Amino acid sequence: MRAADVSSDITEVLVTEEEIRAKLDEIAARVAEDYADEDLLLVGVLKGAIMVMADFSRALKKHVTMDWMAVSSYGAGTKSSGVVQIRKDLDTDILGKHVLIVEDIIDSGLTLSWLLENFAARGAASVEVFALLRKPEAAKVEVHCRYVGFDIPTEFVVGYGLDYAEKYRNLRDVAVLAPHVYS
Ligand code: XMP
Ligand code: MG
Repeated sequence: MRAADVSSDITEVLVTEEEIRAKLDEIAARVAEDYADEDLLLVGVLKGAIMVMADFSRALKKHVTMDWMAVSSYGAGTKSSGVVQIRKDLDTDILGKHVLIVEDIIDSGLTLSWLLENFAARGAASVEVFALLRKPEAAKVEVHCRYVGFDIPTEFVVGYGLDYAEKYRNLRDVAVLAPHVYS
């Protein structure tokens, strides 16, 4: 896709493809060191985390297993409803496992705090979080996120897996969606 095709839909590129790649290498090195003595299960949160999961898992110099979960707390709009629904559950039993949740973005934190409680209840040995993006000023609940890629302003962003009404996921950078698209 040529940038010109969507340039009127975005106001600003916040994080470039190159910045993402460098950050994933850095965090992958930390994770490999932190989990040097443990088996690790990566759980990607669909659909937004597909790109970060694909690139992060390949940056990781360590054998891992992978599973996916799909939850939704959003409709077609841009605000969290706070109500989390499981659309696709894990295929794996996480009892006794070390789990790293791979998320695209933490906004209010509601989705993640629900997931953390849910995973703890299933008896995981440990549950940590890697979120590529975080909006610190949008937090409604505190969630402990061990690995954070980039803190960004409270704006609706798209690209690198993040969508608006299922569009823009295949943009290579993370960009701010122009308000005229959703208002
Ligand atoms: P909460 O508010 O529960 O939201 O932390 C987490 C989920 O909401 C989606 N989300 C976004 N999706 N651009 C998007 O495309 C955004 O700016 C944005 N903010 C939140 C996302 O699925 C995330 O996992
Ligand atoms: Mg998500």
